[in-house]
Parts: sequence; C-alpha cells; structure tokens
Amino acid sequence: MCGIVGYIGSQEAFPILIKGLHRLEYRGYDSAGVALLNDKGELNVFKTKGKVANLEKFCESKDISGTIGIAHTRWATHGEPSDVNAHPHYSQSKNIALIHNGIIENYLTLKEFLKNEGFSFKTETDTEVLVQLIEYMKGKYSCELYDAVQHALSQVEGAYAIGVIERGRPDVLIAARKGSPLVIGIGENEFFLGSDASPIIEYTKKVVYVEDEEVAKLTRDKDLEIRNLSDVVVKHDVQELKFSLSEIEKGGYPHFMLKEIFEQPKALKMCMNGRVNEQLKEIKLSGIIDNMERFRSAKRILISACGTSWHAGLIGKYLFEYYCKIPVEIEVASEFRYRNPVIFSDDILIAISQSGETADTLAAIELAKASGAFTYGICNVVGSSIARATHSGTYTHAGPEIGVASTKAFTTQVAVLIMMSATIGRQLGTVDNQQYLQLVEGLETIDEKIEEILQQASKIEGISKIFTYARNFIYLGRGYNYPVALEGALKLKEISYIHAEGYPAAEMKHGPIALIDEEMPIVVIAPKFGIYDKILSNVQEVKSRKGRIIAIVTKGDTQIKELADYVIEIPESIDSLSPLLTVVPLQLLSYYVAIAKGRDVDQPRNLAKSVTVE
Ligand code: G6P
Repeated sequence: MCGIVGYIGSQEAFPILIKGLHRLEYRGYDSAGVALLNDKGELNVFKTKGKVANLEKFCESKDISGTIGIAHTRWATHGEPSDVNAHPHYSQSKNIALIHNGIIENYLTLKEFLKNEGFSFKTETDTEVLVQLIEYMKGKYSCELYDAVQHALSQVEGAYAIGVIERGRPDVLIAARKGSPLVIGIGENEFFLGSDASPIIEYTKKVVYVEDEEVAKLTRDKDLEIRNLSDVVVKHDVQELKFSLSEIEKGGYPHFMLKEIFEQPKALKMCMNGRVNEQLKEIKLSGIIDNMERFRSAKRILISACGTSWHAGLIGKYLFEYYCKIPVEIEVASEFRYRNPVIFSDDILIAISQSGETADTLAAIELAKASGAFTYGICNVVGSSIARATHSGTYTHAGPEIGVASTKAFTTQVAVLIMMSATIGRQLGTVDNQQYLQLVEGLETIDEKIEEILQQASKIEGISKIFTYARNFIYLGRGYNYPVALEGALKLKEISYIHAEGYPAAEMKHGPIALIDEEMPIVVIAPKFGIYDKILSNVQEVKSRKGRIIAIVTKGDTQIKELADYVIEIPESIDSLSPLLTVVPLQLLSYYVAIAKGRDVDQPRNLAKSVTVE
C-alpha cells in the first residue's frame, strides 16, 4: 500500500526520492507525487495518476531542485485515483505539504470543524484534512511546524505514517507514525525516510523504527530528535539493516516473482539455518524453547493471518493437531478481530505475516493480548510491527519479498510451522522418535527436492500456454494439500486475473462439479500418501465429466498419470512436508499463465503487498 520516501541532506533530493518510489512500487499504488523545497525556500508539489515513470516525465520541465523533499505512492482509499487526490497535499495557504499512509477515521468530523474555521477543500481525501489541521494548529498556537504536527495528531483517530515539510524551512522535515510503518535512515549529515527500508538501504544501514504516536524531527546538520505526542523526548535505538541491496534487485530474472520462486531452496536453507541440526538430528527453535511452559500449558492455539499467510496457517492447524495434539482454531484476522471471539488467558495466538505490518493481523494480536493470551509472531520482515507487538516469535528469514504474489514467504512460513510442531511435539512427547527423524531428515533435503521441481520450469511454461484461454480454474487437494489448493488458486487469481477456486477434493461433489465440462481446467494435487485412493476417485469423477486435468503427482505415479491430461512430478516426501513441494509447480503455473496473458506479475492491478489499512 501507500509508500513514503523522504530526504534531507546535502544531495539533490529528487533523484533519491524517485529511486525510492521505484523501490516501493512493489507495495502497490495508483498515483505518485513529490514535494521539494528549492534553495529559495519555495515549496513545489508535482503529482500524477499512474506510474512513477509518469511522474518523472511530468517533472521533466519543472523546478525539481532542492536538498529536502518528500514523495509518495498512493493506493486509493478515500477518493478515486487521480492527479488531485494524489499526495503530497498542500495546506490551504500552500505553505505546508504532507504525505500520508493510513486512514484518518474521524476525518469527516475534523473536516466540518475546519470548514467552520474558514478552510476549503480541493479533494475528497482524509489526508488533505490532516494537512489543513496542521496549518490550523500552527495559526492557533503560533508555533513551529513540529508543535503544530503534535497538536494536530493528538486530535486524530486512525492510522498514519506522515512526512511534512514547510515553505521557507528547508532545514527541517517532520515525520510521525501510528499504526502504519515508518523507518528513518541515518546517513552522514543526512536523513532518509521510508515506509520500509527498501528506499534507504542503498545509502545507509543505520535505521530507527519510529514507534506509535512518536513525532520525529529531521533537522539538517543536527541529531535526530523524537518526542511523543505529550512532547516527552523518546530514546531511540539505532538498528542495523541485515539485508543487502542485491536482495531487493532482480538479479537477472525478468520479474521479482520468478526470482523469488527460484530462491526458495536458498530461502528455506536460511530459514532452517541454526535451527535444523544435521549432525545432532535435532530441530531447535529458541522462541519455542524459551516459552515452552506457555506451550505446555496451552489448551488451545489460535492462528490469525490474512491471504497467503492464512493458507500457511491452515497447514499449521493440521501440523499442530497431528504432531502436538493441541486443538487449533484458525481464522482470517479481519473476521477474528470483529466478532468478539472467546479468548482465554491460557490460549496462544500465533500471528503469521510476511510483512509484519498487516493491519488486521496486528489488531488480532492486540485483542489476544488484551485477554491475557500469549502471542507468537511468524514474520519475515525483521523489526516489523507484528514482530515487535508479539511476546515472542520466529523470523522466517526468507529475505526481502518484493513480488506482490507471495511465494518464498509461504514456503518459509510452512517450514517454521513444521519446525514449531516438531519442537513442541518432541517436548510434549506427542512426536515419537521415528516421526521426529522423518521431519529432521525431510527438512534437510527439502531444498534439493525443490531444485528438482524448478528444473521443470520450461515444461510447466509449456502447459501454461495451453490454458490461457480459460476463464475459470478449479484446484483440488486433500489433507495438507487442501490449503495448497487454496494457495494455488489465489496465486492464479492474483496475477493472471483468471477466476480460480480451491476446494477440498471431496467437496467438489457438493457444488463445483456442476461447472465441469471439456473446457474447465482442474488442477489436482495428488501426491502418493494415505488418502491417495480417495483423491484418485475424485480424479476419476472429473475425468468422466471431461474436465481437463493437470495433476501434481509423486514421481513414478502411474494411476493418476493415466487419467490426467498433463502431469507434473514432484519427488517423494512425507505427507506433512509435501506442501513445500506441491506449491512450487502451482507458483510456476500461475507465473507462466500470467506472462502468457501479458500481465504485470510483480504489480498486479488493485493489489498491495503490504495491507496497512483494514
Ligand atoms: C496482501 C498480499 C498477500 C499477503 C497478504 C497478507 O494481500 O498481497 O500476498 O499474503 O497481504 O500479508 P502479510 O504480509 O500479513 O503476510
């Protein structure tokens, strides 16, 4: 969702801001803009609907000079995507410019108030209300911009990450956050601002994560100053970014998504590094060991997440119930948070999130904490809001994921859930020696098995070209591979815009079977385990209705091969580890279908990578 970039220092700001906006494109957006203060202290705002490239073109003949500026990519919430609704927004006098990520919930009340005070509005956005409120506060208290921002934010309900600059004050940039992420990069006599670290990493590895209700003052040639809304100075920790620039570049791949699919063997190795011990044949997760008493006494685990992370969570339910014998409830975070769920103090809430910033998942954590439950995060982004809000957790260490459609984040989330269930089950005595060894050895070799699947990319590309005609797809799976069917369908929808549904294979008879004809592609995930015979019957049911079957089968399978139109083979594994393999051909299938249809796979329409509003 919306992206924020800011700069103050001795370099020209515009190129830094534009590069930063490009780095944030992956978050999803529909318009872009920039505000700069030139050396005369004049404030110039330029903004356009569409891509950052449009903005660059638009700015070609404009005054883009200045060593301080703020820039933004907007994902529309209040008001359609348009030039006028794009950020930055000016205040009425055009003395102040502001960029904002989040939603000001009481903006209508504030707008009415400001109208009565003589302010008029040019847009339907909540953001314009905030910049006008800052101007109002400045007048009311005859104060500096910093104080005016503090006064304004204390009136605001909702979520925000903001950057603000003022005409005639090229020495200061104000930033603040509540609910939406914000990072400050500290360089040599210069500061950078970002809604995540990707626009900053090129210049400095030293960052400060702004906390809720904190207002930061980035002053030229001075130290960073952060205060809370009550004007009390807050001590801030300078942290070191752990990823490198190359990790957020395409590295020779045509798209981030393809790069990230191919990175999965390495990402899983990183995720298991120091956790799966090949010599000792042991799995150790410190987050679990340190909190084992909580897990031992837990009567129930709740899992809350959104999108792909929710699919990983569903696999987690199957794992925890099988290996740990702990009952698990899983629910999408947006439903969980608003239905007054019963949460006990001996429950454990596991929140799963790639970005660590998803607003609904964050709210589910707060709800669980308020009921005294223990919260555990599984996040990819180090230092993210969810990682900080939970009592403990495990990072997936997949490296930055830029493609909007989640791939390596999913497999590493599943790997963490497998390691968690093995560790907990071992401690509880619900996992026997043989099961434990199977899990350890299975995880040790998983990367090689994924490599083997990746070698079939061109075969999968060939299959995908046959199905670009399709307007619908059905994905079927059972057991651990039912969530994979949901994930496969989601991947296809997200990037190819083909309608796709995932079903537990036996559920097909209760409705979707009516859709099957000789045009309908059915992807069946059918590795050879316990309920193979059952899924074989489901395949026969599809075949007799002339559906076109693409089957994911275990190497050497003969029975499904005979029935399916196309097969993709995966190496053997145990049931509970199979999602790490079966999902890979589905990711590739979606990718190649989307490419064949000419879609923008890394930035699919209307989607955002990090959903920071509910
Ligand atoms: C968005 C992304 C999905 C992601 C979901 C949850 O919808 O496009 O790829 O699965 O958010 O995000 P999270 O960062 O919490 O895993």
